[in-house]
Amino acid sequence: MFKFSPLTIKGIRIEVPIIQGGMGIGVSLHPLAQAVAAEGGAGIISSAALDRLVSRRNNKKTNAYEAAYEEISLSKAKGGVAGINIMVALERDYEDSVRGSVDAGADMIISGAGLPLKLPAIAKSKHTALVPIVSSARALRLICKKWEKLGYRPDAVVLEGPLAGGHLGFRGEQVDQDEFSLENLFPPVKDAANEHGGIPVIVAGGIYTHDDIKRFMAMGADGVQMGTRFLGTEESTATEEYKAALVAARKEDIIVAEKPGSPCGLPIRLISGSPMYQDALAQARKPKCDKGYVLLRDKEGKYTVCPARYDNRDSFCICNGLLSSAGYNPDKERPLYTVGANAWRVDRIMPVRDLMNELKGLPVQEPVASPA
Ligand SMILES: Cc1cc2nc3c(=O)[nH]c(=O)nc-3n(C[C@H](O)[C@H](O)[C@H](O)COP(=O)(O)O)c2cc1C
Repeated sequence: MFKFSPLTIKGIRIEVPIIQGGMGIGVSLHPLAQAVAAEGGAGIISSAALDRLVSRRNNKKTNAYEAAYEEISLSKAKGGVAGINIMVALERDYEDSVRGSVDAGADMIISGAGLPLKLPAIAKSKHTALVPIVSSARALRLICKKWEKLGYRPDAVVLEGPLAGGHLGFRGEQVDQDEFSLENLFPPVKDAANEHGGIPVIVAGGIYTHDDIKRFMAMGADGVQMGTRFLGTEESTATEEYKAALVAARKEDIIVAEKPGSPCGLPIRLISGSPMYQDALAQARKPKCDKGYVLLRDKEGKYTVCPARYDNRDSFCICNGLLSSAGYNPDKERPLYTVGANAWRVDRIMPVRDLMNELKGLPVQEPVASPA
């Protein structure tokens, strides 16, 4: 029987070389990470708005450090490999999320949505691998150069191509260009990784089947990161409405939003019928920011400015939209559904175990058809 080679990052062995990508807000929490870890993959929680989600769950005010600490501890509670995705764009809570994760013994911190140039300066740990997400060889070389000055080399790198879900490291017009396909982005990134001591390269964005994984591993990838397939599992903590929208989505429903788009300025892939996006198109939601995760610095250097606070033409309030999609205040704010380009292929919600077996190439039990 065919078996993938394990992926080793900083001495941590991931039996099945599949990393379940971090999915914010509130989609990849410890129930998903734990389940993936139990099946031999790496389960990754998302730090996005974790303080709010954990505060509500515990009915007790919990800050970003404590929330990361608690969710990592729960993700690792039943064994296996688990880590956290911390987006650079969430600057205000970045350092606290990193420290809480390292102190809780996270196996890895995966960080993108911006260049994580300062990550090793915040926490260099013996046990936590530091893994940047890049979309080009240029970005990897820049990170290596900066990190080497801090006495650190990336323990692995995720190359995320333009078919991914969430925020994209590509402009809208680049998304469909052959030059930017994951297959074409990979070789120069692998070369750059080899120039820096053979950093393991994990590919992400549009990987859907066992054969896709095989194909990229044959090209020299060390592992894959997958999001959309794990969004469509029973253990993901997206709302039932979100999961239903995922199953119902057709190819033409999946778009890349730029204007109006995310207040952090990066394009974001969405199901176009998402209520929050429809409101944005109609300018139906008054500009308001009462969460403040995607903050930019003001003139004094303090994180106070969210463009969605003042403007509903160029941007919309992704924090409230995504929180609503994770079941947080759905009566007050309308949901926003982010997905990968292959979301139209998802035709049912399945347990993580079945998905992992399918991806490993094990025989899959077809669902029993319901009587007509
Ligand atoms: C619902 C959803 C939320 C996501 N949220 C994040 C996030 O918070 N941070 C991040 O770096 N990537 C995020 N991503 C990207 C995934 O971690 C992953 O790299 C990507 O989706 C891979 O492409 P695929 O969905 O085609 O498998 C998200 C993806 C999805 C589908």
